[in-house]
Amino acid sequence: MQGRSTVRYSSAQPLPRQVIEDCFLAAGSAPSGASLQPWRFVVVSDPAIKRQIREASEREEYLFCHERAPEDWLEALAPLATDEHEPCLEIALSLVGIFALNYRVLPNGRKVKNYYVGESVGIATAILITAVPRAGLVSLTQEQRL
Ligand SMILES: Cc1cc2nc3c(=O)[nH]c(=O)nc-3n(C[C@H](O)[C@H](O)[C@H](O)COP(=O)(O)O)c2cc1C
Repeated sequence: MQGRSTVRYSSAQPLPRQVIEDCFLAAGSAPSGASLQPWRFVVVSDPAIKRQIREASEREEYLFCHERAPEDWLEALAPLATDEHEPCLEIALSLVGIFALNYRVLPNGRKVKNYYVGESVGIATAILITAVPRAGLVSLTQEQRL
């Protein structure tokens, strides 16, 4: 597990679907508050949608870098030499959107709060990120301000 690291390039070889599904089976085995599994994983491989996501993300990142980010945050990011440009969002063969469900909707339409959402989604994400290199793949984690 110590061999994992963030990778910002990608091979052009297609991803075997079974390998991806196995990674999500591992992630979905995570423990969660009241076993509510408050996550949804969405895989995007369509180049046109990846482009839209990159464009939307770069618009937000530009505002973040130039207007919203506090100075000390920018200082912390400086050694990584990253900026608002996010070519990886198109280079990557697949993007995985990880959504946290703050509430669930019962069959009668009532909204009910989920518990320990951040913790549970964080654990599931950690398992996914750990499973990916064990399956021979690489990943780059990004929080998206969309
Ligand atoms: C919540 C989170 C958000 C991150 N956001 C970005 C990002 O926006 N852009 C980026 O290039 N890397 C991002 N990273 C990757 C970190 O820069 C990377 O994990 C860190 O430099 C340590 O490197 P390692 O993952 O190889 O150990 C993010 C990582 C996490 C956990």
